[in-house]
Amino acid sequence: MTKTAAEVDQLKRAPATKGVIPEVLHRWSPRSFAERPVSSGDLQTVFEAARWAASSYNEQPWRFIVGQKGSETWQKILSVLGEFNQLWARTAPVLILGATRVKFSHNESDNPVALYDLGAAAITLCYQATALGLHTHQMAGFDRDAARRVFKVPEVFHFGAAIALGYQGEPASLTVPQMLEQEVSPRTRKPLSAFVFSAWDEPAIFA
Ligand SMILES: Cc1cc2nc3c(=O)[nH]c(=O)nc-3n(C[C@H](O)[C@H](O)[C@H](O)COP(=O)(O)O)c2cc1C
Repeated sequence: MTKTAAEVDQLKRAPATKGVIPEVLHRWSPRSFAERPVSSGDLQTVFEAARWAASSYNEQPWRFIVGQKGSETWQKILSVLGEFNQLWARTAPVLILGATRVKFSHNESDNPVALYDLGAAAITLCYQATALGLHTHQMAGFDRDAARRVFKVPEVFHFGAAIALGYQGEPASLTVPQMLEQEVSPRTRKPLSAFVFSAWDEPAIFA
């Protein structure tokens, strides 16, 4: 029998790790969203959080296009998503598209960390959403050329990821078997030894 939304939300949590903040442990990426809309107050709050992300030269190169379900913007974002993502993201009450200015505005030189800065703002938004009881699901699978065309985005901006935002829905509403299976499986991660080094490929020792 398929698990309930509450059961899945529980099993997706990272194991309690001393000192790690709850938003980090509890964030995960559902594909099933409830019909419940997101209040404009909460929506503003997640962008306020993103606003305070750090960025190189305090450039704040990120830009977000946000659409609530029923709006032309939401429909346009959905239309540029890849086929697979459209199948589930159409249940999300909010869709967001992230772009970043790849040249510094003070001298128009290349900003090599523009995507990094956008990612920092995006994940800040995601953790704030978690703190509000919302869920997010970031997506690389969308047509960047179509997004540029549809929203008339200048060339100096590059796209990062799209984000679906809303309240978690019942897993049983997912009709694609692969999605259902992933929705009810625990999350996995590499151990620290695979990516925290004291020299290249030598795991750092925390003792
Ligand atoms: C930049 C980025 C792009 C992603 N693109 C997609 C996507 O196009 N479609 C999708 O279903 N999930 C996408 N994901 C979700 C990841 O598969 C997911 O974050 C990963 O499996 C870890 O699971 P968790 O977020 O639940 O911890 C993306 C995540 C990130 C951060």
